[in-house]
Amino acid sequence: MPSTNSSADTNVIVKPPLLAVLDSGAGGLPYLSYIHRHRPYGRYLYLADTEGFPYGSKSEEELIDLVSRRISCLQSRFNPDMVLIACNTASVVALSALRKRFSFPFVGVVPAVKPAAIKSKVRKIGLIATAETVVSSYTDNLIADFASDCMVIRYAGQELVEFVEHHFTSTTLAQRLEAVKPACRFFKAEGVDQLVLGCTHFIHLKDEFQSLLGPGIDVVDSVDGVGREVLRRLEDFNRGNTGNMQTDFSIYTTSETGSSSYAEFATFYGAGYAGVLTCP
Ligand code: DGL
Repeated sequence: MPSTNSSADTNVIVKPPLLAVLDSGAGGLPYLSYIHRHRPYGRYLYLADTEGFPYGSKSEEELIDLVSRRISCLQSRFNPDMVLIACNTASVVALSALRKRFSFPFVGVVPAVKPAAIKSKVRKIGLIATAETVVSSYTDNLIADFASDCMVIRYAGQELVEFVEHHFTSTTLAQRLEAVKPACRFFKAEGVDQLVLGCTHFIHLKDEFQSLLGPGIDVVDSVDGVGREVLRRLEDFNRGNTGNMQTDFSIYTTSETGSSSYAEFATFYGAGYAGVLTCP
């Protein structure tokens, strides 16, 4: 139970709400980093589902079952107060099923088609995402609702997801630029003026995309918008609490694979690598 002290009692340790963040791998880390930067006092748990990776090539049924099992595991082990599904694929496919099944609040991430449509002058937008996200009916509806007068050019970048997950921490800038080159060439030839990064893994390559696409194409993601929403909702849990906030930022994986790079990611983001969480 969080303390309800409302005076400026600095001797009281307040247990802030626990935010759990799930992605198939490293893609959700920029979101949690944004949240942690703006609210360093807090309890944050990041689960990289390295055993379930990649999500983007799974069927909808498989993915709903897998993500539900991961959330059950988080619930029984940590009982989080809120969950951020920091994965476009899992959000577009499984979020409504998760909300029906679990009682804690969820925030999801979806491709930032709406802000891109607002900014596009040529009414032509690029969307790079996983194979699952580019063909999902959720994405069709998103485009129909917020970009109906734009042409949206879709590109499935599953190889690039693998690149980020397995090689990002050991690559040079030249290798990263080389990796994004085919997609950049494609979108430039299509004449878009906005590129939506509709897979969270690609946010790690945002600078590389921007540098190859040049100033005429904006690279858009949902980190700030989603980050602000989560911060607003976290503040509601602790309204009036002014004691010393307990702090923790731990990263777990669901398999040994890639754990050395998670230790590197953890160091980079000011977190601790807490090891493998064994989930059924
Ligand atoms: N990072 C995820 C997304 O935003 C999925 C990557 C994958 O596992 O295929 O869609």
